[in-house]
Amino acid sequence: MRLSRIGFAAALTILTVGRARAADDARIDSLMAQMTLEEKVGQLNQLAAGFLPGPILGNETGEALVKQGLVGSVLSPESYYQTQLYQKEAVEDSRLHIPLLFGLDVIHGYRTIFPIPLGLSCSWDMDVIEQTARFAAREASAQGVRWTFSPMVDIARDPRWGRITEGAGEDPYLGSAIARAYVRGYQGSRLDDPTSILACAKHFVGYGAVEGGREYNTTEISERTLRGIYLPPFKAAVDQGCATVMSAFNLLDEVPASANPFTLDGILKGEWRFPGFVVSDWTAVRELEQHGIADDDATAARKSFLAGVDMDMESAIFLPQLPALVRSGAVPQARVDEAVRRILRAKAALGLFDHPYTAEPSGPAGLTPEGRALARRAAAESLVLLENRPVGTDTLLPLAAAAGKKIALIGPLADSPRDMLGSWPCAGDPHDVVTLRQALTERAQAAGMRLTYAPGSGVGSAADNGYGEAIDAAENADVAIVALGEASSATGEASSRSTLDLPGSQQALLQGVVNTGVPVVLVIFSGRPLALPWAAENVNAMLWAWFPGVEAGHAVADALFGDVNPAGRLTVSVPRSVGQVPIYYDAFNTGRPRSDVLSMGTRTQDAHYVTGYIDLPDTPLYPFGYGLGYTRFGYSAVSVDAAALSARALNDGSARFHVAADVTNQGSREGTEIVQLYIRQRGTSVARPDRELKGFRRITLRPGETRRVDFTLGRDELAFWNIDMKDVVEPGQLFIWVTANSAVGVPARVAITP
Ligand code: NOJ
Repeated sequence: MRLSRIGFAAALTILTVGRARAADDARIDSLMAQMTLEEKVGQLNQLAAGFLPGPILGNETGEALVKQGLVGSVLSPESYYQTQLYQKEAVEDSRLHIPLLFGLDVIHGYRTIFPIPLGLSCSWDMDVIEQTARFAAREASAQGVRWTFSPMVDIARDPRWGRITEGAGEDPYLGSAIARAYVRGYQGSRLDDPTSILACAKHFVGYGAVEGGREYNTTEISERTLRGIYLPPFKAAVDQGCATVMSAFNLLDEVPASANPFTLDGILKGEWRFPGFVVSDWTAVRELEQHGIADDDATAARKSFLAGVDMDMESAIFLPQLPALVRSGAVPQARVDEAVRRILRAKAALGLFDHPYTAEPSGPAGLTPEGRALARRAAAESLVLLENRPVGTDTLLPLAAAAGKKIALIGPLADSPRDMLGSWPCAGDPHDVVTLRQALTERAQAAGMRLTYAPGSGVGSAADNGYGEAIDAAENADVAIVALGEASSATGEASSRSTLDLPGSQQALLQGVVNTGVPVVLVIFSGRPLALPWAAENVNAMLWAWFPGVEAGHAVADALFGDVNPAGRLTVSVPRSVGQVPIYYDAFNTGRPRSDVLSMGTRTQDAHYVTGYIDLPDTPLYPFGYGLGYTRFGYSAVSVDAAALSARALNDGSARFHVAADVTNQGSREGTEIVQLYIRQRGTSVARPDRELKGFRRITLRPGETRRVDFTLGRDELAFWNIDMKDVVEPGQLFIWVTANSAVGVPARVAITP
C-alpha cells in the first residue's frame, strides 16, 4: 500500500503498532525461554477470586498459586483493592513477574447499567451499542478489570432459553453488526489504552440452539446451518479483532463444544486464523466427564486442550494434568507453547507488562451525569411500541401531561429497582435505578397530574398484593399504566422457562384492569419475548421495555409522554403461544405453504394439507423487525440498477447491485425509522429462507421529509453455503425488499445469471 493512499497518521499508527508487536514478541520469547513447564501451564489456568474449587496441587490457596506463577488469569474480582493485591502478588512475588489478567462478566455495563443486550439490540443503533460498551470498558478498567466475557453472540430462536436476554436476537446479519459494535466499544482503537478491555465472543458455538430451550442442553445443528446462521456473528467479531473467544457448554453433534476440534481448531483457529486465545466456559473442561467423553481429569484436559481450548476457566484441570501429559508425549510441548504465547500476547497488547497496576480511582464513586444520559438514551432507543390504538379520535399514546389528569400506575414492576437491572447486573446498584414510579411521580408533580400507585400482584407468585386497590385505582383514573412482566431472576443463565405467559397472577390483574374500561397502556419488562395474545388484543397500547437499566423509569416515561418517539424494532419474533417455538422470520418455505409467500405460482393446495397448526395462524404475534412509533413511514417501490448480474462477477467482487427506495415520513412528528433490506433467492442448489436481512439503516425524518435510502448487494450479502458446502453466489432469481419489517413490502425481482 502506498503511503499517500493510507494517510500519514494511519501509516504512523501501523509503524508504531508494528514496532510494539516486535518488542512484545521479543519479551515473550525471552520469558518463554525462562519458564518451566509448570509456569507455562500456569498461564493457561484461570481461577475465580476467592473461589478455589478445592486443593489443586496440594493444600494450597489461590494466593499461593498466584505467587508461584501458576495462575494466568483471575475472574470475577470483587473490588479494585482485590485486583491490585493479586496483581502485586503476581508481579512482585512470582519468579518471572508475569502480570495477571482480570476478567469479569461486564455484560451491559459495569456500574452504569444499560439495557439488557436483547433490549439494546432493538435499537438497531450501532453507535449507541458501541458507546455503551466503551463506557462499560472505562468503568471496568478503572477497577483493574481488563477483560470482559462479552459480547454473547449466540443466535437465539427460542425464547424459553433464559440467555436469549444476553444476545442480539435471532438474525445473523444484525447479530454480526452488533458483535462488531461491541468489540469496537470494549477494545477501543488501541488495546494498550488503559481504558480498553479485551472482548470475548461467546459461547462458541451453537449454545443458542439448545433443544427445548433447556439450559446447558444438547444442540443438533447441520454444518450448513452452523456456517450460515450460528457462526457468522463469531466471524464478524473475530474479523473486528475480538481478542478472545469462549467455548460453550453444549454438545454440538454429540461432541462437547469445549472439546470440539472441528469448530475450535478447524474453523476458528484454522479457517479463520484467529490469533487470540480461547477460554473454556466455567468448569466446561471438567464437564467433559459428565458428558461422558472423558473418564478422568487427564482425558478431559487432553481432549479439551488439543481441540483448541487455551485457558481452563475454573475446572482447575489443566494445571495439575497438562505437565504430565506433555512429559508422556500425549500433548505436544509445542501446543502448550502456542497457547501460552496467545495468552502472553494478549497481556502484552493490553500493556500489562509495563503497566500492571491501575491507578486508584479518584473522585466520587457512582454514576455520572454522562453515564446517566447515555443510559437514558440507550434505554429509550430499546423500547418497542407494539400497539397504539385510538381512544376517541387519537391514539392513546403519547399521553398528554394535562394538569388534573388522573393516572393509575399498577403492577409489580412499576417500582422494582432490582428487576430493572436485568441479569448480569455486574456492579450495578439498585439504589441507582430510577423506576417508572419515580419517573412518573416527577412528571406528575411538574405537570399537576394525580398519580396513584398500586402493585396489584407479585411478579412471580400468585399473591394478590392488593388486587382490590389496583382495581379501585383503575376505576378512578383517566388512564392506567400497567407494568407487568418477569422478574429479572427468571431470565439469564439457568433460567429457562417452559411457558411464556405472564407469571403468577399478573394476567388476572391485567384482565381486571382492562375490565374497568379505563384506557390501558401495558408496559412489559422482561428478558425474553412473552406470548401475550390476550393483551395484544385487549389493551389500548403496549410498550415493550425489556429490562432497561438504571434509567428505566425516565426512558419509559419519556416515551409514554412523547418526549421520545419510540423507534425500537423487534430483533426476535414474538410468538402467539409457546407451542409455536422455535419461530423465526428467516425460516424456509415448505412444499405446502399456507399462503404462497411470493405468489410464485405454487399450485394452491387443498386448504387442509398445508403447513402449520390447526389451532393457530402460522405467523408470529409480532414479526422480526416490527415496531411502531408516533408517526408513519411510506416506502416507494424498490429500484435496482441492473436487471441482471452474473454470479461470476458477483463472486469475484467486480459487480454489485445498487438498490434504493424512497422513505417518507407521512405523519406530523419527527421520527426514526429502521429501513430494512431483505432478500430471497430461488433456483439455487439448496433452499434459501423466505427472507434474509441483508441491510438496514436508521434514519430520522422530519414530518413530510423524504429520503432516498441506498444499499449495495454483492458477494458478502448474496453468497451462501451451497450444496457443495462452498460459500458462493449462485445463479437464480433474486427478490429484494426495502421495507419496514420482515412481514411486509413488495419485492423487486432481478436475475443472477451464470
Ligand atoms: C458461565 C457463563 O456461561 C458464561 O457466559 C460466563 O462468562 C461465565 N460463567 C463466567 O461467569
